Amino acid sequence: MIVCTTIQELKAHLAQQRKNKPDGVIGIVPTMGFLHEGHASLMKRAREDCNYTVLTIFVNPLQFGPNEDFDRYPRDLERDSALALANGIDLLFAPTVQEMYPTKPLTKVLVSEVTERLCGASRPGHFDGVGTVVSKLLNLVQPDRAYFGMKDAQQVAVIEQMVHDLNMPVRIVRCETVREADGLAMSSRNVYLSADQRKQAVILSETLRAAESWLKQPGMTRLKLSKLIADSIRSVPLAEIDYAELLTYPNLSPIDANTEISALSQTIIIALAVKFGSTRLIDNRLFQLG
Ligand code: PAJ
Repeated sequence: MIVCTTIQELKAHLAQQRKNKPDGVIGIVPTMGFLHEGHASLMKRAREDCNYTVLTIFVNPLQFGPNEDFDRYPRDLERDSALALANGIDLLFAPTVQEMYPTKPLTKVLVSEVTERLCGASRPGHFDGVGTVVSKLLNLVQPDRAYFGMKDAQQVAVIEQMVHDLNMPVRIVRCETVREADGLAMSSRNVYLSADQRKQAVILSETLRAAESWLKQPGMTRLKLSKLIADSIRSVPLAEIDYAELLTYPNLSPIDANTEISALSQTIIIALAVKFGSTRLIDNRLFQLG
């Protein structure tokens, strides 16, 4: 596995690879590191599909708000490198902030509408940072395929929209959410949780699982379902809801309060963001209706 931190090295290795294998399929797995089994599943999938797999590790300051956890975001490049190697990554690109943003970026990639709700609403500017950095990474690597986890379903919707609108020559591959044995979605931020918070955090996945039967109940409306979901999360004392929403997916449009769920025939998402102390966890589930 090649490890590089500069754009120059990255480009030289990719040029060599393209020369050796002109028809080879190149895959990219963009991450912020502190890798876990969720990231590993993306790496495995990329390795299965591609001849050459690039993992990027970059904690992108542009997508963190001023009061968010950029400085304390967990980092462990040594451990991450070992995991990348074990998962068959060919090239690990781990640039510094200076390398990615040598000057203040005056160009940003802003995706509208799909960024208005959920994390777009509670983290202003977040998706501008994501769109910008993912565009840069795609431009640098020019992969055939890019792998993203559905744990961040809104991020997938935003990137798919961006790639579509800007005719970026890459296929976005959606990967399933990987969970702990008790159902908690794996996240680099889970390490922040205290023992009590960790126990109670399982309420997110439990609520999403319960919602599957709630939405099949006769006469179930969007409003009733929203209430059941919120009440379920509030049943644990340490949970503080940031949002708990039911929207269409991937366009993330609202569903009228009185709409009967049984009348819908499309994909919907139940998306949750819940704070435990200062740690904000997200989870979601898609349901294909009708
Ligand atoms: P990060 O949070 O490190 O996640 C990197 C990728 O791993 C994302 O596509 C995310 O959805 C996926 N992922 C995280 N947890 C997962 C899980 N439990 N199961 C499956 N996939 C999971 O998302 C980012 O970084 C950044 O916003 C990034 C796209 C790299 C841009 O900076």
